[in-house]
Amino acid sequence: NGVMKTWDGPVHEVFSPVCVRTPDGLQRVLIGSYPVCTAAEAGESLDAAVAAYNNGRGEWPTMSVAERIQRVEKFTGMMIEEKEVIVKLIMWEIGKSYADSAKEFDRTVEYIYATIDSLKNLDRDSSRFEIVEGIAAQVRRSPLGVVLCMGPFNYPLNETFTTLIPALIMGNTILFKPPKFGTLLHYPLQAAFRDCFPAGVVNVIYGRGNAIVPGLMQSGKINVLTLIGSSKVANELKKSHPKVNRLRAVLGLDAKNAAIVTPHADLSLAVKEIITGSLSFNGQRCTALKIVWVHRSIADDFLKLLNEGIAALKFGMPWEKGVALTPLPETNKIDYLNECIADARGFGADVVNVNGGMSEGSFFYPAVVYPVSKQMKLYDEEQFGPIVPVVPFDDLEETIEYLIESTHGQQVSIFSNNAEEVASLIDPLVNQVSRVNINSQCQRGPDVFPFTGRKDSAEGTLSVPDAIRAFSIRSLVAFKMN
Ligand code: G3H
Repeated sequence: NGVMKTWDGPVHEVFSPVCVRTPDGLQRVLIGSYPVCTAAEAGESLDAAVAAYNNGRGEWPTMSVAERIQRVEKFTGMMIEEKEVIVKLIMWEIGKSYADSAKEFDRTVEYIYATIDSLKNLDRDSSRFEIVEGIAAQVRRSPLGVVLCMGPFNYPLNETFTTLIPALIMGNTILFKPPKFGTLLHYPLQAAFRDCFPAGVVNVIYGRGNAIVPGLMQSGKINVLTLIGSSKVANELKKSHPKVNRLRAVLGLDAKNAAIVTPHADLSLAVKEIITGSLSFNGQRCTALKIVWVHRSIADDFLKLLNEGIAALKFGMPWEKGVALTPLPETNKIDYLNECIADARGFGADVVNVNGGMSEGSFFYPAVVYPVSKQMKLYDEEQFGPIVPVVPFDDLEETIEYLIESTHGQQVSIFSNNAEEVASLIDPLVNQVSRVNINSQCQRGPDVFPFTGRKDSAEGTLSVPDAIRAFSIRSLVAFKMN
């Protein structure tokens, strides 16, 4: 809230997923610590955000769009100066490869500049008056109030900023809780937040989410909840808000994106896309392919190519050149992945690739599990990790039924070179998920495309132009011309 304090309270020690070998086996490396705020201290930050908004009369919500843009540009300039430190912190905190951490940083900067351009266009439009039936009207985009913003550990900078920056630039005040894994990397931005925005406009709260966030929601002072994370947490938080009907939620949630590989697919292309789609950043992406449906007649050929492709991936430390698979940050993840495999084995499937499912320390070698069927956890739970569940099918109708029954509705990928077959799938599938990809993996970008989901997978839409709308309301100034 504009005040940097020396911290004498409790701290949380941050251990990197990167391990060192010790006499007791592989151990995670201690890389830093951050303050653990109490609920009362988080409440003070909330009060600072409420005061800065001041019912829409604060300096920030009443500032001209042009000036807000200048402030965000200054912030971005200061952020760019910290690039190397932030990229290395992303790498150490979440184990993302150095190359992908740098891409995450660059994509974030591009996203901010694209948001600025989009807002400049919108602002030009809203300075015009439209005359309809004797009324001259100016349509504005006005802020919504205090935004509680929480991003995910897998894109701790990028996905946080795809909500924080549009919310901020539209004149809202922000309460920002960094993800549990991916907190330290926000430290180098503290000075920039302080220098570029009035006091109380951006408030970063450090600590344990389950201890501080419910109280913030229960206060009833949050106007917008934006979270990229779990559907369960989002639902609980929404319900705890006393005036939930007045709360706007912008949410990116659980997903179980499916690939469908038909006998008409170009198998090597399908395998290449499915490997990247299911295993980039170790499968820890909401858009990752989390289940693969393969026609029974081509299943053996598909699995052979898939296993060869996985065996060729480089496994190692995040700073190594060309590394594709890296250690996992979530401490309980490997137990969960092993549980999924044991459960699948109990129902007759097995790990079918060499070394699949082997683990040591925070390393887990990707496992291809086959044949997956309905009773198994891997059939409908989002594993969010390096397991590729493969289901054989006989009739395409089975894949459509799967998507109809699923509680998730983010994306699907169809692999087929038969135009008629693809056309017959598009309409039923686009009414189940929010993006159908043809002969390519699922993904969020390019960032100007709408990013959302049906059912439990999302609320609201994010993209450069959509986020500006999501964090503002169209309001009208109307003059009756007599
Ligand atoms: O984890 C969820 C992200 O939205 C995935 O984004 O498809 O660009 O990797 P991405």
